[in-house]
Amino acid sequence: MKKLIAGNWKMNGLEAGAVSLIGEIGSKIGAEPEILERCDFLVCPPALHIHVVKHKIDHDHIPVAIGGQDCASTENGAFTGNVSAEMLKDAGCAYVILGHSERRSLHNESSAYINEKAARAHMQGLTAVICVGEQEDERESGNAYDVVAKQLWESVPKVSNAATTVIAYEPVWAIGTGKSATPDDVKAMHAFIREKLQENLAESANMRILYGGSVKPDNAADLFKVDNVDGALIGGASLKADQFLGIAQAV
Ligand code: PGA
Repeated sequence: MKKLIAGNWKMNGLEAGAVSLIGEIGSKIGAEPEILERCDFLVCPPALHIHVVKHKIDHDHIPVAIGGQDCASTENGAFTGNVSAEMLKDAGCAYVILGHSERRSLHNESSAYINEKAARAHMQGLTAVICVGEQEDERESGNAYDVVAKQLWESVPKVSNAATTVIAYEPVWAIGTGKSATPDDVKAMHAFIREKLQENLAESANMRILYGGSVKPDNAADLFKVDNVDGALIGGASLKADQFLGIAQAV
């Protein structure tokens, strides 16, 4: 299975910067096309930049998929400030990140709510990248596995399969901190997630499990060697084309 190298640009940059970033990513992939035999690429710009980034991707034939960072749990309607799965699809998205820890904590999103969003994404044919991961105190108190199992059980629709869903394990304490989980911790958690997916879902075979949390070019090779690590969800390092591609080169 190819690794999915996914960039979560979060709420960073302005339009011109988004266009030049995807342009640089495109040039770097163009200079090294064999990387596409090992990696699939995805970028998730801020919602307002999806159109210009998608335009650049299409115009320059850049082999990178595009996704949203969130979607509404409902169909279109009177929901001020929301962006629907249908709108993302219409804008050319193939993916949407759901349940990122920043949304779980800063926007109080529950797993049940994320499950509704995932169902909406699935209805529109978007692949949902559903994030799970424990907080630092939950890991320290030995509850990381219980927390992740509960998030998986409640957030991931039971009809999910490898085409409609990607799981991203992102320990919250590793996000944006420079403190990545160790390959041993990742190995144990990804094996556990694989097992839970098999228990919970009828069609979990080949579902990708990404690792996220301070992935950089210099720790990527060790993480990608770990069983059941099928790619990475990258925040900070996805904002620099050389780092984003440096991570892919580690595959
Ligand atoms: P980071 O973010 O790579 O900056 O740690 C990862 C994420 O939040 O998806």
